[in-house]
Amino acid sequence: MSYPYQIRTFEEYQKAYQKSVQDPEGFWAEIATHFTWHKKWDRVLEWDFKGPGAPIVKWFINGKLNITENCLDRHLPTRGHQPAIIWEPNDPEEHYRVLTYQQLHDKVCQFAQVLKNNGVKKGDRVCIYMGMIPELPIAMLACARIGAIHSVVFGGFSAQSIADRINDAQCSVVITCDGAFRGNKDVPLKSIVDDALVQCPTVKRVIVYTRTRTPVSMIKGRDVWWEDELKIVETQGNPDCPAEIMDAEDPLYILYTSGSTGKPKGVLHTTAGYMIYTNYTFVNVFNYQPGEIYFCTADIGWVTGHSYILYGPLSAGATTLMFEGIPTWPDAGRFWDIVDKHRVNILYTAPTAIRSLMAHGLDFVKNKKLDTLRVLGSVGEPINEEAWEWFYEHIGKKRCPIVDTWWQTETGGILISPIATVTPLRPSYATLPLPGVQPAVMDEKGQEIQTPEATGNLCIKFPWPGMFRTTWGDHERCRKTYFDPYPGYYFTGDGCIREKDSYYRITGRVDDVLNVSGHRIGTAEIENAINMHSDVVESAVVGFPHPIKGQGIYAFVICTHLDDPELTRKDILETVSRVIGPIAKPDKIQFVKNLPKTRSGKIMRRILRKIAEGEMENFGDTTSLLDPSVVEEIKQGRLAMS
Ligand code: WT7
Repeated sequence: MSYPYQIRTFEEYQKAYQKSVQDPEGFWAEIATHFTWHKKWDRVLEWDFKGPGAPIVKWFINGKLNITENCLDRHLPTRGHQPAIIWEPNDPEEHYRVLTYQQLHDKVCQFAQVLKNNGVKKGDRVCIYMGMIPELPIAMLACARIGAIHSVVFGGFSAQSIADRINDAQCSVVITCDGAFRGNKDVPLKSIVDDALVQCPTVKRVIVYTRTRTPVSMIKGRDVWWEDELKIVETQGNPDCPAEIMDAEDPLYILYTSGSTGKPKGVLHTTAGYMIYTNYTFVNVFNYQPGEIYFCTADIGWVTGHSYILYGPLSAGATTLMFEGIPTWPDAGRFWDIVDKHRVNILYTAPTAIRSLMAHGLDFVKNKKLDTLRVLGSVGEPINEEAWEWFYEHIGKKRCPIVDTWWQTETGGILISPIATVTPLRPSYATLPLPGVQPAVMDEKGQEIQTPEATGNLCIKFPWPGMFRTTWGDHERCRKTYFDPYPGYYFTGDGCIREKDSYYRITGRVDDVLNVSGHRIGTAEIENAINMHSDVVESAVVGFPHPIKGQGIYAFVICTHLDDPELTRKDILETVSRVIGPIAKPDKIQFVKNLPKTRSGKIMRRILRKIAEGEMENFGDTTSLLDPSVVEEIKQGRLAMS
């Protein structure tokens, strides 16, 4: 057996879970011995969720290692010729690429040299803005090789968003491509980076990989081609790049995510705990068997890609398939074509993708074999029963378990999920906490509910190795956001229901964070973007149920004047696109004269949410409204729209 810590039966799960609660340090220390270390840790865990410096979380204290040695070097003797990455291009006619562990290792070392030649040192922050091509993971691993901290920005974010992220982390280098192919589109990544960099004084170097041959403007002294830099490394004649020896708690990466207030936060993950946790959860949740082809459809720009395209699978010596394109191009059968073409065994995707493919009908599924599939996974939002059943029946042919995996950018890895082939499934339930995870459900008074059956806000009361350590540059904000609401607990922002057999059902965010097509966006962020438009006085954004996206974005907007509402609507969409990115564009904009405010000036979002949903009654207690007639006006406006 190749993973000594792989759980095979429900009894083994129960035993592992018990041990992980009774003796967390012993539990994780045992698993940690199966990795490559330069120096063993002195102590397993130090933590405090409550004190003045909270959160303090340190795993494997004083242990020394490099994550790329665990993802690459240690596999070379046994798996050097096994595919590490299979890359399926956007255009099915183009040749796919396979990188073996040896090849990936060599490319990472070469590019790590490139980074060094360009002045990147341990601890420096490197922004990566690329499409889904193998050079993206190569760039990330090259950073990790030399101890630089990567900050990947999803390709759907605007120049302004990139600039905000670069400036917050003070990045010195940006790695990008000329462009990215997505369906029949060609996104000019370098040109977007150029727009961003006007505002970014810390960036000294931009390294550009050629993908689309889109014309780009290369700025003398700042911009260099990836390919040219590789040639320089070749002439230097030293193909190996020894791994920087990192402390277990040295930062690995920053990934920005939206919260309920203000601008996105840089979630910080560190080295050893993150590596061990993503590896452990990957091997267990998906029941990965050596040699299997694993396909996660996420974009590496989100945490799912970081943990379950890259670090989890590679640290486990798995074969991970990455796909450049979109599920509906050239047609809505693309995922299933990829599964057949590469004989995929494990498929991990999102409910929004399932719903959108469902809507295209069964014609795109019927001629596909899908016979290699063994395990299916879902992530990003609650999976509704209809989508679950469709996925189970038409893709998994009722043979494949579906693991509904609940987790977050902050958690680094999956926390609540079935273990494939082990945990009895229940549609729309994330089921049980993984070993090492201690959930708590809180009541309205802020107390932990002690009975098995519980409904309330979901917290976690004990650290797990993969959790984030802080928000970049603002530890205070980290404490306030996640640890102040329930002292002594990590607050997830999600609501949940726990059944008497301890099965968890995640009911969605209880804060002002939206989940649109599995993308997390703060309502305040969208409002700020809308308010930047010169005709806008004020706005309020809420989510509403959307058949494909899960949640849609509904904006109530007050304008100074409205001569041509249709044009203003388009202008606002363009503004949001510019400020955040196309993913944050409202699905619906309703122009209003006033917003329902309380006497203390707070917008009553509860009412707006109801109206956005099309529900015109049952607004609850509205006695604190300053002017109740506002609600009537908005209702009329809503009715006139649909
Ligand atoms: C939020 C985190 C986890 C990686 C992708 C999203 C929601 C995520 C599930 C699930 C119900 C889920 C939660 C969570 N969510 N997975 N299986 N069932 N809800 O990461 O962008 O940080 O978003 O996604 O609301 O808080 P993220």
